[in-house]
Amino acid sequence: MNQESRQVYADADALAKAAGLDLLRLANEAIAARDIFTLALSGGSTPKKLYSLLATDPAFVDFPWDKTHLFFGDERHVPPTDKESNYLMVSQSLLSNGSVPAKHLHRVPAEMSDAGAAAAEYETDMRAFFPSDLLTDGFPRFDAILLGMGPDGHTASLFPGSKGLEENSRWVVANWVEKFKTDRITFTFPVLNAARNILLLVAGADKTEMLHEVLVDKQGTHPVERVRPVDGAKVWMLDQAAAAKLPTSS
Ligand code: 6PG
Repeated sequence: MNQESRQVYADADALAKAAGLDLLRLANEAIAARDIFTLALSGGSTPKKLYSLLATDPAFVDFPWDKTHLFFGDERHVPPTDKESNYLMVSQSLLSNGSVPAKHLHRVPAEMSDAGAAAAEYETDMRAFFPSDLLTDGFPRFDAILLGMGPDGHTASLFPGSKGLEENSRWVVANWVEKFKTDRITFTFPVLNAARNILLLVAGADKTEMLHEVLVDKQGTHPVERVRPVDGAKVWMLDQAAAAKLPTSS
């Protein structure tokens, strides 16, 4: 069973707070059911507010970090000290208050010179972590995966025209992104679509056109349109700027 919903918030701050409260609810539900909460983080700029709120807002002082394990849905092919690193962004926001046990943050070894080897090592680490009862059809079934969307319709590091779009067996791949002339390391669609919950956080006027193509035109041509949880919930969490061209009734 899968369901798709959409929520529109006044601005990026309201979106971040709502996403934090959703994650808190999902974490408590997962821990009540399975004594663990597995969460894959997205990168880029949109989730920074969310991550900082989770670390500093009193609403999240009791977030169950002791039973939460964090992974990265994608990472740039750079060392963890590089300003492009999603790990660096997370360590400066979410990890800033020291509540997340170091062993609970599963970092992509993106400093490795060979991006393919880094992806393979991350997949090996994930396979060692996920017991069979947390797999579905051979893929890790995350309790929640955070995703964003680029103006070009990419999500994670699954960019238009990239080979990673077609990967159906690996969990994690190195994916050459022609427009950036660089590799990225990314979850594949089977991993994204195995999740119990997918939260797509999309904010800003630069996403307005693409969001209309994805949610209204629905041609199915953009990578983010392949995010279709097999048995899970997918929620679009938007700010008004990004949602400006969406019909209000839908
Ligand atoms: C990354 C992200 C990427 C991001 C989108 C949107 O590593 O950059 O995982 O998929 O979610 O590019 O990025 P913004 O939030 O910066 O618009």
